[in-house]
Amino acid sequence: MSEIVREMMQADLDAVVAIEQQVHSHPWTRGNFADALLAGYLCRVLESEGVLIGYAVLMSGVDDAELLDIGISAAQQRRGFGRMLLENMLAWARAQAKQRVVLEVRASNLSAIALYRHAGFQQIGLRRAYYLTDNGREDAILMGYEL
Ligand SMILES: CC(C)(COP(=O)(O)OP(=O)(O)OC[C@H]1O[C@@H](n2cnc3c(N)ncnc32)[C@H](O)[C@@H]1OP(=O)(O)O)[C@@H](O)C(=O)NCCC(=O)NCCS
Repeated sequence: MSEIVREMMQADLDAVVAIEQQVHSHPWTRGNFADALLAGYLCRVLESEGVLIGYAVLMSGVDDAELLDIGISAAQQRRGFGRMLLENMLAWARAQAKQRVVLEVRASNLSAIALYRHAGFQQIGLRRAYYLTDNGREDAILMGYEL
């Protein structure tokens, strides 16, 4: 297997949005990804055997960086790719001398929470009823990773 992580390009958006719609209950739109690219956020994709199978978006602040989105195609999950991409984003933040990486995650998203904990993130806050669901609201868990 050969995997590479590279910068996301406009031409990747069809593949990125297809995965996003497959794996997220409340997916980002194509416009959200296009805006992230335009805004200069760190947008990267993971290719395996030349096929785009994942992506992540990190917004850089002065001291912190915030992971805004990460996704791995359904057929490729639980093979370590999410961790690979997350480690790549953490390495970028470390190289930029950021002090920590933060993120918000739906309380029901147990696979993502497990990925983040596994990588060393810890819960740093809770926002009650922060996200809309199909039939109500759910909490956001705030997590942080000290670099
Ligand atoms: C979250 C996500 C990116 C994880 O990607 P992945 O490639 O499947 O994760 P990995 O295989 O690298 O898993 C790394 C570790 O995370 C944990 N983990 C990941 N998925 C898990 C699951 N479904 N159940 C339990 N633990 C899980 C495990 O500890 C795992 O290590 P292990 O396989 O050695 O036990 C993927 O499930 C996904 O795309 N989800 C939909 C999008 C999403 O929710 N994104 C995050 C919110 S923005």
